[in-house]
Amino acid sequence: MIIKLPDGTTSAILTNESIASLPARLKGEQVFVLTDRKVYSLYGNAFPPNEGVIVLPDGEKNKTLDTVAAAVRQLIAKGADRKSFILGIGGGIVCDITGFVASIYMRGLRFGFVPTTLLAQVDASVGGKNGVNCDGYKNMIGVFNQPEFVLCDVNMLDTLDCRQLKAGLAEVIKSALIADAELFRYLENNIASILNLDKNQLRFIVERSIAIKAQIVEADEREAGERKKLNLGHTIGHAIEKQSNNKFLHGEAVSIGMAMAAYMSARVGMLSESELKRILHLLEWAGLPLSAGIPTKKLVEAVGKDKKKHGNTVSFIFNKGIGNVEIKDISITNYEWGNKNLQL
Ligand SMILES: NC(=O)c1ccc[n+]([C@@H]2O[C@H](COP(=O)([O-])OP(=O)(O)OC[C@H]3O[C@@H](n4cnc5c(N)ncnc54)[C@H](O)[C@@H]3O)[C@@H](O)[C@H]2O)c1
Repeated sequence: MIIKLPDGTTSAILTNESIASLPARLKGEQVFVLTDRKVYSLYGNAFPPNEGVIVLPDGEKNKTLDTVAAAVRQLIAKGADRKSFILGIGGGIVCDITGFVASIYMRGLRFGFVPTTLLAQVDASVGGKNGVNCDGYKNMIGVFNQPEFVLCDVNMLDTLDCRQLKAGLAEVIKSALIADAELFRYLENNIASILNLDKNQLRFIVERSIAIKAQIVEADEREAGERKKLNLGHTIGHAIEKQSNNKFLHGEAVSIGMAMAAYMSARVGMLSESELKRILHLLEWAGLPLSAGIPTKKLVEAVGKDKKKHGNTVSFIFNKGIGNVEIKDISITNYEWGNKNLQL
């Protein structure tokens, strides 16, 4: 699959290749690899030939400018130049940092990703958003820039722990809720075997999710309108990540955010009771949380600092049935939207 942006940029998404095909793809390139400790210990032997590996500290709390600066210093020390190719091999955090570092080092180098978590394969590596957090506020610093390629090898998910796999499923469920009622039903019917790592099913849901995201990104790379739909569950999800000190994984926080969005959509009549139940059941079957136990006031406070707010309003994504969403501006200070009855 090729993502084509209006400015002529393209990004190749490879879902039928394995990490073993990288040496051929990168032949002749001077490659520097960014990864994290765990991925390096599991897959370092399979990395393509390279000029140097930079091992990033893992965890959301390290997705910061300090880590970016440290990686830049290592690239300088290892002799990366304008012709070098930067390859991120790891989860969403490695991909976010790699894309950002590659975009600013010497004003921008070519780069690609091998996403190794389900979440990174279906979401974080695709779409050209690369950024880091600031003081716990998510993705406050970043750039839009497309990787040359994204290679998703579902066999690498074998080593992923179950909690991470489930967190990735949250983003797949999000894709289904935004644009694909059939994918939603497929997940309802196959969630158990997907959790058992059935490779054909994993490849199917990765490809479907990427196709949905690609279509939206092609229409609106810079998030002027349509792309906001991908934020379903994320406004509250980011607030949960911030206010829980990252107790929840990103996908778990998004799950709670989606449950909340579904309750709110039902309340305003955009979702039937039975559709609401289907959404909550699927999240539960996928082993995802539905509530965070964080006071609404604290969440509203964090939403007030969300980079997507404008003035006193924030664009909130409501479900319009299953497989469709609608963007509506809502007041941040109106406590109605995030409230006690919703048992957040
Ligand atoms: N840029 C975007 O468009 C976008 C979209 C969605 C999410 N994100 C970002 O992605 C990040 C979350 O990504 P994530 O969930 O992949 O987390 P992560 O990068 O922290 O990876 C999760 C854990 O899994 C380990 N891991 C990775 N691959 C593995 C494998 N194959 N086997 C065993 N362990 C493995 C990692 O070492 C890490 O400990 C968040 O920071 C989120 O904001 C970005």
